[in-house]
Amino acid sequence: MRQYRICGGKRISGELAIGGAKNAVLPILAAACLNKSETTIHNCPRISDAFDTIKILEGIGFGVEFLGNTLKIHPAKELSHEVPDECATKMRSSILFMGALLGQTGKVNLALPGGCNLGERAIDLHIKGLEAMGAKIHQEGNKLFCETEKQGLCGTKIKLDTASVGATENLLIAATKAKGETVIENAAREPEVVDLAQFLKKMGAKIRGAGTGTIAISGTGGEFNKEITHEIIPDRIVAGTYLVAAAMTGGYVRLTNVRPFDLAPFTMYLSEMGCTLRASHDTVILHAPQRLRPAGRIVTKVHPGFPTDMQAQFAAALSIAEKRSEITETIFEGRSSHVQELRKMGANIHLTADKQTFVIDGVRRLHGATVAAHDLRCGAALILAALAADGETIVQNAEFVERGYESIENDLTALGADIRPETI
Ligand code: EPU
Repeated sequence: MRQYRICGGKRISGELAIGGAKNAVLPILAAACLNKSETTIHNCPRISDAFDTIKILEGIGFGVEFLGNTLKIHPAKELSHEVPDECATKMRSSILFMGALLGQTGKVNLALPGGCNLGERAIDLHIKGLEAMGAKIHQEGNKLFCETEKQGLCGTKIKLDTASVGATENLLIAATKAKGETVIENAAREPEVVDLAQFLKKMGAKIRGAGTGTIAISGTGGEFNKEITHEIIPDRIVAGTYLVAAAMTGGYVRLTNVRPFDLAPFTMYLSEMGCTLRASHDTVILHAPQRLRPAGRIVTKVHPGFPTDMQAQFAAALSIAEKRSEITETIFEGRSSHVQELRKMGANIHLTADKQTFVIDGVRRLHGATVAAHDLRCGAALILAALAADGETIVQNAEFVERGYESIENDLTALGADIRPETI
């Protein structure tokens, strides 16, 4: 087991360049299955979810080289439709190999996806959408068996009940290989969906409307056979995590390689909390006040609303802000594991009866404790709380954090934190 030992009370200040986004690269790696030529991906974060996705690619026949932050994916001589169970069950995004391999080989067998435990994480929209395109899918135990008829997937109109990021991406990938036009209504508009569409377009896909609620894909059913190079967009959640680190420690941070527009759904709250923010085309600068102000009420929403992936980090920040703030989680039904852990550090947070709203009465100081990450963003939030706390904190289950942060200890050390990873 790995953990972080953090000595709190150091002011976070300095400059940092932000790496590629986990939630952009994972779908793009699945989409690379559609390319029969070499794919080069720059700015790929060296995180465990990327390594596990690479294992899936290798398991189904691709050759992959990963040097620095550049990935080269060499086409498979023979493509297997069996997704290795061990990696599929670790990650949510493994489900995207369903659309990719159904499109490419007409067949895929894969285990139900894993991923952070955030409550019920259904895949009905993925399945319904692919079935509407002609796939036959059945489940035996924890395994999905999927096939298309001889003619392959066919374009159709699909209206998603909720604007699911993963379902939009799965259908977008599948539709790229389908025959005819697919229209996805109530599509997710997250920047990572747009990055996937950009990648597919470089391959030759005809996609309109990515980033809006309606995406249209004109497929020919043909092959894609073009060497392509793509640079992954910066990780807005990693950037947000470091902005909150500076905000919580009365610090200053200058982040480069960011897209300020993508950060706006949460930087507007940091401004409201008393931080001074300045942004230029790929840079954001934050100066924190002596003490953070309350944020009123934050409600997580699909993009361009407040992102659920920043909810836990803001809960940590508001724990030491003045007065009362509230956060309501509307995307996931079980994303509250940080609450019990923050309380161990002296936070005054309680959950309302429906367990979706956190009422946070800010305290002046948090104190060090031994706490455990229960998912990726819970881990990030606990590290942030530890940076601002008096004394020493141990954050257990570092493995969760490593899923989505390339080297949080090096980044924060560069910004002046006292944080050490340990293996016990
Ligand atoms: N949902 C369904 N049916 C479906 C699909 C989703 O009911 O078929 C529900 C889910 O249960 C959930 C909601 O819709 O309540 C949103 O799920 P969505 O499909 O949008 O999320 P996801 O694709 O599973 C991605 C990110 C998450 C991020 C969410 C929301 C990846 C690999 N994961 O998950 O990232 O929180 O979108 O923005 O892209 C993280 O990075 O910490 C993380 C959890």
